[in-house]
Amino acid sequence: MSVKIVILPAAEGEVPLLVQQISGTKREYENYLHLQKEGKATFLVAWEDKAPVGRLLIRWDGSLEIPRIVDRMPIAAKFAGYPSFENIEVRLDRRGRGIGTALIKYAEQLARQRKFERAVIEVDIDNPRARALYERLGYAELGLGVFTTSGTYVDDAGHIVEWTNGPQVLLIKKLSENTSKF
Ligand SMILES: CC(C)(COP(=O)(O)OP(=O)(O)OC[C@H]1O[C@@H](n2cnc3c(N)ncnc32)[C@H](O)[C@@H]1OP(=O)(O)O)[C@@H](O)C(=O)NCCC(=O)NCCS
Repeated sequence: MSVKIVILPAAEGEVPLLVQQISGTKREYENYLHLQKEGKATFLVAWEDKAPVGRLLIRWDGSLEIPRIVDRMPIAAKFAGYPSFENIEVRLDRRGRGIGTALIKYAEQLARQRKFERAVIEVDIDNPRARALYERLGYAELGLGVFTTSGTYVDDAGHIVEWTNGPQVLLIKKLSENTSKF
């Protein structure tokens, strides 16, 4: 199906609409906008008929998971320094219509413009459909295998909150034909 989608970096005033229309908290979106303001990220939003229908965060400094695992998995260093496409989500009622693909291809274009040779995507092992999509778009595992990370953070109320990511894998894609093989 052909859908008219416009993809743009998110702007300050859009946070309430994003919280309302796509899953995610005000705190999360404000963090993405903050990173974008600092030049560390580009937070893309896909729009359809003036409604936000999808999102993707490009973390230009690379996946946060790499420094967390590089001591126990030195091969992870191969994934460092490439932009990481994260928090990819399409509104539930708009999935399966090419919006996720469009967001990823748009992010790849921005990465090519910045002369990055590769891009990285994290995916949970219990998310085979998302992984199938990424593999269809050319992303592949580089032998790093499955890993889990965990830690704590302090929430707005001062409580220590434990978090766990994964089990997940990192997938990588060459963005240009001229890029050498690993
Ligand atoms: C994964 C996701 C971003 C894909 O966006 P999308 O707009 O549906 O993707 P496209 O239409 O470009 O491609 C469709 C493909 O996405 C994949 N997909 C994954 N979950 C899907 C879902 N719930 N509905 C439809 N397609 C899904 C499938 O591979 C599908 O191909 P298929 O129709 O052959 O099964 C979207 O499904 C989503 O938001 N899922 C929930 C959040 C998530 O899992 N994010 C990924 C974190 S790594």
